[in-house]
Amino acid sequence: MTDLDLLTNDASEEPPLFGAPRFLSIELTNFLSYKHARLDLSDFTALVGPNASGKSNAVKAFRLLRDIPTYGLPVALARHGGYDQLRHRSNGRPNDPALRLTFAFDDASASFYELSLASVSGKRYKVKRERAEINYGSRGAKIYFDSDGHRVVSSERGEDSPGSVIPPGQSALTTGPLAAFVVYNALRSIQTIEINPALVGSLQEPSSTGEFDPAGSNTASVFESLSQDDRQAVAERLSAIVPGIVRIEPRSFTDQQTLAFIQSTGNGNREFLAKQMSDGTLRAFAIMLALTQDVRPRLIVIEEPEVAIHLGALQSLVEILQAESATTQVLITTHSADIIDEVPVESLRVVWSTDGRSYLAPVSEHTLEVLRSGMITPGALLRADALDPEPAS
Ligand SMILES: Nc1ncnc2c1ncn2[C@@H]1O[C@H](COP(=O)(O)OP(=O)(O)O)[C@@H](O)[C@H]1O
Ligand SMILES: [Mg+2]
Repeated sequence: MTDLDLLTNDASEEPPLFGAPRFLSIELTNFLSYKHARLDLSDFTALVGPNASGKSNAVKAFRLLRDIPTYGLPVALARHGGYDQLRHRSNGRPNDPALRLTFAFDDASASFYELSLASVSGKRYKVKRERAEINYGSRGAKIYFDSDGHRVVSSERGEDSPGSVIPPGQSALTTGPLAAFVVYNALRSIQTIEINPALVGSLQEPSSTGEFDPAGSNTASVFESLSQDDRQAVAERLSAIVPGIVRIEPRSFTDQQTLAFIQSTGNGNREFLAKQMSDGTLRAFAIMLALTQDVRPRLIVIEEPEVAIHLGALQSLVEILQAESATTQVLITTHSADIIDEVPVESLRVVWSTDGRSYLAPVSEHTLEVLRSGMITPGALLRADALDPEPAS
């Protein structure tokens, strides 16, 4: 039986239709600057903290997870500098890293995916344990898989599978158990955004997949694959940030392509090619496009969305992200007091670093009370470096 049969062919039980997961939290253990931390996710979560405190390192955990189904574990690790670089170092001694992602389907209790790695010799790694438990339906049904890096065992509807063998260093996500398939899809619904405006602006090779590249190297192809309505939706959202944009159109030059931005000026419309647009416009455009692509991401992760976007436009960008967060969870890192004033205070996460270790916590209850009273805004506290995290219990 294929996974699809399992998804659809059961008449006796509630069919396990795995729709969109809601991401609940990520736990980082011995990962980059974190010894151990848990980041709880809401609809719109914002990480704030000084430079080098660990904001980007938390985001890297999502990138790594997203890269596993796309590239396989060995390449995913290599893309992040390799296993050895990812291990947390404090007092010079590196430790075995692990990530644990929790998420939920509808009203079912939380599901999780866990990946722990360990050193073999020198800088090489092995999968120490990789497992997932997926809870679904209203009657407490569950499936799981569990791998020790050599063999994966699984259970589906009370039927245990003796499991299959996994090549050394590989993830079990493509080995067949339904629970692995569900995790595979959940990780693929994470979209990280690392826009390089130069790539968005340059002539691009047509891409076959239509899947949004986080750096923005195939924005012309992705845009072209959209319906007319979705194209116009992207242009309208962008016009809230860059006034005057009326339309965006694909343009082809022999075997390369780019986009034309049609902008209204004092005397009629003018057309600008992507390379003529400002970095801020290209970044904002790419973010709007990522939100509108055919397969909608369920979690979108954006580092410092304020970069290259002027103050007046920033509020429009945050409003768009907020509206989107009803269907796509948003996680940002930011230094912008103007942005954090727009984010619910309960969704702010303070990141800080002490003695080479990163920590992460919600805003302290005491500070939340002050903020709720309206006497001061989160942005003002951020500027005063007085946004206190909840003390560890
Ligand atoms: N493997 C590691 N072990 C411990 N600390 C690390 C590791 N890799 C990077 N770091 C530390 O992480 C810090 C950078 O964190 P980062 O998340 O980029 O900060 P920011 O909050 O500015 O985004 C650096 O100070 C670096 O020393
Ligand atoms: Mg950073």
